[in-house]
Amino acid sequence: MTEVARTPNADQIAYWNGPGGQRWADRQRLQDELLEPVSTILLDRARVMPGERIIDVGCGCGATTRAFAEQAGPSGYVLGIDVSAPMLERAGQVAPQTGRVEFRLADAAEYQFRPGRFDLIASRFGVMFFADPVSAFANLRKALRPLGRLAFICWREPRFNPWLMAPLQAAYKHVPKLPEIGPEDPGPFAFASEERVHRILGQAGFSEVAMEACELALDISVGCGLDAAVKSALEIGPASRALEGQPVEVIAAAANSIREVLAPFAREQTVVLPASIWIVTARNL
Ligand SMILES: C[S@@+](CC[C@H](N)C(=O)[O-])C[C@H]1O[C@@H](n2cnc3c(N)ncnc32)[C@H](O)[C@@H]1O
Repeated sequence: MTEVARTPNADQIAYWNGPGGQRWADRQRLQDELLEPVSTILLDRARVMPGERIIDVGCGCGATTRAFAEQAGPSGYVLGIDVSAPMLERAGQVAPQTGRVEFRLADAAEYQFRPGRFDLIASRFGVMFFADPVSAFANLRKALRPLGRLAFICWREPRFNPWLMAPLQAAYKHVPKLPEIGPEDPGPFAFASEERVHRILGQAGFSEVAMEACELALDISVGCGLDAAVKSALEIGPASRALEGQPVEVIAAAANSIREVLAPFAREQTVVLPASIWIVTARNL
């Protein structure tokens, strides 16, 4: 990843190598527990067979990379690719690389994969950050063998994801709004539009594109109660982005407001909020 400053994805690369990526790495165990239901759905749809070769795009700390490797078995191979050095470092600590699992610090939009060598390209929330998604997915498709599969999970619209938006609205009582981003700009909600995802994947050459909406209930406290839920909102997601670099007293005031909006969802040690994802599948015909 030399000459990062000149690549189209430079802003995202900077973000995921800065405090945002470091917080994901520090929260790896909790994040993986929180997003476990999503992994289960992805693994179910990906239908990995023993011996398959898989690319995990935006693999982060490697939870899905490890899960795919388990399913692909001793004759399989999984390449986890990510732009975030701190998250990949964490991935390597949790599961050291072997011949069957490798992690690569590189931009998946541009990386020269071995053409036609992979059976499956998969991702849990790692494909919404490309500046030019058509060209990125065309690059990924080249790595697939004929009839190879694509399976990924992305977020639906913000209004269907109160687990992210309720803390953000609370934070906005104390800090300016995040810069307005267009519906086509990279970010967690960049693939919220069904029409846009079909268009991107179609233009990138994929066939049989299918999208299924799926509602989830996420315990953002991961069984650790309201304080942990507030901490989670301060560390990841759009509220954390809005609060980045703010003075401690502003963050403390925002934390109180976030606690107020989350309190009605608290039951014993859980804080469960609605979330909604797309399950996207396609083929390289
Ligand atoms: C929301 S995180 C998800 C991480 C992981 N898949 C998970 O579910 O825990 C998004 C990930 O995409 C990675 N990413 C963003 N742009 C990328 C790119 N162009 N190439 C590879 N990875 C990228 C980020 O570094 C980050 O690890």
